[in-house]
Amino acid sequence: MVTSLPRSKTKKQAAGPAAAARKKPTLNIAMVGHAFMGRAHSNAMRQVNHFFDLPFEVVPKVVVGRNLERVEAAREQFGFEEASVDLDAVLARQDIDVVDVATPNDTHGPISMQALRADKHVMCEKPLAMSLKEAKAMAALAAKGDRKVGLWHNYRRSPAASLAQRMIARGDIGKVRTVRAVYLQDWLASADAGWSWRNTKAVCGSGAHGDLNAHLIDMTRFLTGLEFVEVCGAMETFTKKRKDGAGKSRPVDVDDALLFLARFSNGALGSFEGTRVAPGRKNHNRIEVSGEKGSIVWNLERMNELEVFTYEGAEDARGFRTIMCMDGPHPYAANWWPDGHIIGYEHTFVHTLADFVAMLKGKKVFHPNFDDGVAVQAVLDASLKAAETRRWVKVPG
Ligand SMILES: NC(=O)c1ccc[n+]([C@@H]2O[C@H](COP(=O)([O-])OP(=O)(O)OC[C@H]3O[C@@H](n4cnc5c(N)ncnc54)[C@H](O)[C@@H]3O)[C@@H](O)[C@H]2O)c1
Repeated sequence: MVTSLPRSKTKKQAAGPAAAARKKPTLNIAMVGHAFMGRAHSNAMRQVNHFFDLPFEVVPKVVVGRNLERVEAAREQFGFEEASVDLDAVLARQDIDVVDVATPNDTHGPISMQALRADKHVMCEKPLAMSLKEAKAMAALAAKGDRKVGLWHNYRRSPAASLAQRMIARGDIGKVRTVRAVYLQDWLASADAGWSWRNTKAVCGSGAHGDLNAHLIDMTRFLTGLEFVEVCGAMETFTKKRKDGAGKSRPVDVDDALLFLARFSNGALGSFEGTRVAPGRKNHNRIEVSGEKGSIVWNLERMNELEVFTYEGAEDARGFRTIMCMDGPHPYAANWWPDGHIIGYEHTFVHTLADFVAMLKGKKVFHPNFDDGVAVQAVLDASLKAAETRRWVKVPG
């Protein structure tokens, strides 16, 4: 992680970040895919040197897609220098340093591996792969060379989540006993909601599970440092057919909701719920970690705050307290605004990119990388199997 800069340095940066950045070597990024995540990633590319002191100047060089007219519109809006529909030609270029994979799940493996073979660094969207087997192949290929790889599990890098990790690691809540995590959305609650690639197994592997539980699994590993040992679960598809954009009825062969229980390497227990059919819940990504001495709660919908309970002070005055996580000592906070000025969803992508770019120089390893993606995929596959077979399943180590 790029640790927060001391105040004095932040001021220096503010004096002339653009001028300072121009003197640095450039890091040219080719981004594949240009819709939701393409917008989020390219925004990060344009912001990152403005707020972080990095060894490279990040250049949104080429945006790659399948339809030239749409790619050209994305180039114009997102600020790339070039647009292309020829990934092979882009990967053959010597001046491309990083390939950013912002496409649907079934393309993560093929595009990332093609980029690694072309000797590029790779940042890939989550979930890493369609299966554990594919994830392992990706990680094995990454391990062969010296290119760096990362995954866009951006929530890790909200200041509050990073602070929670720091507090848990230093023992503020003691040994972890339980984790309860939910990621609740409602955009598929109505049977009238349209069909998309997110409803088809061949493109995304699973539904709410790979989409939302992937984040919960990554966040749990990040916060607690624990590995999942075994899981059991249940899932349901409540709406089995949806209409596509042309009005054609299409089958839905992925879960609307998947819930699972877990046992961890230290004997701790966890409960997880990923759903896209919880009316009223928009992006309710919340995790509560309880230890022997206290509890910590992170909630994306209140992402600048961290709730903490510890057994301190007078007995009659105890309760959860709320830490506003945008002061100088908090992770990433000093890179932004004076104390207390809150940030949002898009900043987590800037932090992710900042840390990745910082680690391109030197020998440090970026997390989450493809090995972390393998660990997440192992839990995803095991809990999907557990839900399908209605039994406990060991998570392959
Ligand atoms: N980190 C997060 O918080 C987060 C949030 C949303 C989505 N995601 C992940 O990001 C990925 C993309 O999701 P999205 O929401 O941006 O999807 P999207 O449908 O909004 O955009 C997908 C883009 O990929 C392009 N595309 C599709 N197939 C392609 C192919 N074969 N080659 C080149 N381009 C192709 C599409 O034209 C489009 O530009 C998914 O894997 C998803 O799980 C992550």
